[in-house]
This record gives sequence, structure tokens and C-alpha cells, in this order.
Amino acid sequence: MNISDSEIVASILKADGYGFTEDVKSADIVFINTCSIRENAEERVRKRLQYFKSLRKKNPALLICLLGCMADRTTTALLEEEKLLDLVAGPDSYRHLPQLLAQAGTGRKAIDTILSVDETYADITPVRLDSNGVSAFISIMRGCENHCSYCVVPSTRGQERSRDVVSIVRETRDLFENGYREVTLLGQNVNSYTWEEGKGQITFADLLAQVAGVNPIMRIRFATSHPKDISDELLHTIANTPNLCKAIHLPVQSGSNHMLDLMNRKYTREDYQERIRAIRRIIPGCAISTDIIAGFCDETEDDHKDTLSLMEWVEYDAAYMFKYSERPKTLAADTLTDNVPEEVKDRRLKEIIDLQQKLSFANNQKDIGHTFGILIEGISKKSDNQYFGRNSQNKVAVFTKTQSGPGDYVNVKITGATSATLLGEVV
Ligand code: 5AD
Ligand code: SF4
Repeated sequence: MNISDSEIVASILKADGYGFTEDVKSADIVFINTCSIRENAEERVRKRLQYFKSLRKKNPALLICLLGCMADRTTTALLEEEKLLDLVAGPDSYRHLPQLLAQAGTGRKAIDTILSVDETYADITPVRLDSNGVSAFISIMRGCENHCSYCVVPSTRGQERSRDVVSIVRETRDLFENGYREVTLLGQNVNSYTWEEGKGQITFADLLAQVAGVNPIMRIRFATSHPKDISDELLHTIANTPNLCKAIHLPVQSGSNHMLDLMNRKYTREDYQERIRAIRRIIPGCAISTDIIAGFCDETEDDHKDTLSLMEWVEYDAAYMFKYSERPKTLAADTLTDNVPEEVKDRRLKEIIDLQQKLSFANNQKDIGHTFGILIEGISKKSDNQYFGRNSQNKVAVFTKTQSGPGDYVNVKITGATSATLLGEVV
């Protein structure tokens, strides 16, 4: 999400005549694009800002600008206490950056953190930053209204709004024509994508079908789906369209019904299991990944065991695992107590991570002997003689270089696997 936002910002600034530098020390303006979803993200931002402040000693004209979700809550504190920032712009204010920068340049602090009900930046063609030239993100909607009790997103990114289908398909086509071979459609809850068109309502499944229609060798991924509304219609669309990737990220957060209720997730363990069965039935061979939070308010040892047992039941291919951190202005901060001791959270998180490692390893071992179509992304970090790429299931494979190069597809037979990587040879 943040990469995608930074690319929109880069586009707006480029159109206004600004250039980019890879070397922060030679910059006249630095932007830090922030996320406040978990506490440690905020701590990293504070450290980075201190570093920028040290650069300002050498270049007193340096403008330090804060963008994104932290903008709202921390504006006052950072501006006034630490005298760090010249400009603060929230996630819906990027179009105003040229005026805000002009103001900051005259020595007056510039702040715009107003959230919008309709800003989607649909007409802005992102400037691809730090790109491998093969895969790119496309933001298809902004905001979220699910109000999971632990989550700060509804308050930092505002109301949910979808971007128009024509601009999404156009962006995909432009990327394809520029050599890209994979796009990931991004939204907090892509299943509730909706767009009114002359003929009627465009659902997320319709959007996927249209994007996949741009070219059969363009792979399409998406994130994130909410378990309460991932429909059979969507699963059938994925199953029937070869270039829609066979990988679904379906955050469960907890395996305990009590926790799911307190988290305001609006589904039960059993509902979630029913959706997993539907995925397995409709899209055989589909990889499934998830997000899990350890140590949410009131979580007992039994609740934690429910999470572990659900993980074993699903046999996740991958997971993002977090320790609960209370965020201001969330339902949980206002109505629940963050009462699981830190060391218990740490231990539970470790058990979850260890189990996932075991599950990922076992799943990857099952791939040995199978051949997958791999989209080459680049040269492996470990060896110049090897490429890495991904299969449709979003698993990374490493294999000896051949004549093909990044952006090409190769068939790779898997000969070995760790918990993180498949190893193989082009066949
Ligand atoms: N504490 C820990 N993890 C969180 N997430 C969101 N809010 C919090 C929080 N307060 C996790 C959820 C979500 C992912 C993007 O971040 O698992 O799916
Ligand atoms: Fe946060 Fe829940 Fe929305 Fe995801 S679906 S962004 S966890 S409120």
C-alpha cells in the first residue's frame, strides 16, 4: 500500500518539475511515507526522522516531509516537540503537495491531513520506484470500513472508495506494454470493490476478469481479501482464468471464536473453515496465506491453542505474524484492555512462527518433483549464476540461469526446498 502511495506522490511531483535522487545526502527535500498499523512501524519512522534532522545540520534548507497514515496523529507532537517537520500530508492530500511544498519553502509549516470521501488518484499514472521492471502494484481502492477493533486503518485512511475500472485496466495495459508481466491489485478489502458502470455493477470478480483479459501472459495477484466476503463467484473466476494467480491471502487473525468476536471480524472459526474448504474445492492446488495476531486483549491459553490448531488444520503456505500492539483511536483501545503480558505475547508469537515454519517447510517439500511455470524476477541474492522468480502460488523458486531473463516465463522442476524457497532446474 505504501509503495503504491509513494509512486503516486512521485508522479505528482514529477509532473510539477521535481527530480529524484537515490542519494538522500544530496536531496533538498526528503519525504518519509509512514504507516501506523503497528507500533514498531512508528518507532522506525521516529528514528529515520532523527537521521534526516542530522542531515539538516549540513543543509539548513533541507525540507523534511511526513506523508501517510502517521500524518494525522503525530503531526502536532512531532512538529512542536521535536521541530522536525516542515510539511505533513495525509494519504488523501498528495495532490496538494506542490502548493504545500511552496508554502514550506517560505519557512511556514505546511499541514494537510484532511481525509476525503472520493479521492482515488485514478487519473494519476504512478512513477514506478525501485521496480524490478517485471511486477508492479496497482491500487484499486482506498480506505476501509470494516472496523476490526484492533485496527487503525479506518481512522487513518478513511472511508472505503473504489477506483474506476477503466483507469485500472488502462494502467495494467500500460504496464504490460512497458514489459511488466505481473500486477498485484491492492486494497484493504478487495472483495468489496464495486464500480457503477452504464450496464450495471462491476464486482471484484468482474474487475479481475477484465484485468486478466489485458493479456494472457500478464499475471494478476491481489491482496487483501476479507474472509467474511470472499465469494464463490470470485473463486470460480480465479479457477477458470489461467493468468489469475492461484494464491489467496486470507487473514484469519485468530482461531478462537471469542477473539474473533472481540476483534469484530464478523466471522467465526467455522465460517472461515467453510471458506477454506470452498477454496480447496474450487481451486485445487491454490496456495493459502494469512495474517495472525498473537496476544490480543483477554486472549487465554485456550484461545491461543485454537489459533495453533486452526493453522494446522489449514496448513497455511505462508503467514505474516504479529504481536498485538494497541493503537490509539481504535475500538480495542477505547473498550478493551491490552492485558496479555508482553512475555506471554512474545512466547505465543514464537510458537506461532515456529509452527508456520514447520507448515511452510512441509508444504514446500510436497512441491519437490513438480514442475511450475516461473516468472523470472531477477538475479538471486545468493548467487550471480542463479535467477529467482515466483510460481502462480507465489512461492519463490531459485534455479540456474538460462538464456531467458527477467520478465520471461520458464518451466522449473523442483528438486529441493527450504521453508522459504523452492530450488529447481529449468526443464
Ligand atoms: N497489532 C498487531 N497487528 C495488527 N495488524 C493490524 N493492526 C494490528 C495491531 N494493532 C495486523 C493484522 C492485519 C495486518 C495488516 O496487520 O494482522 O491483517
Ligand atoms: Fe484493518 Fe480490518 Fe480494515 Fe484490514 S479489514 S484494514 S484489519 S479494519
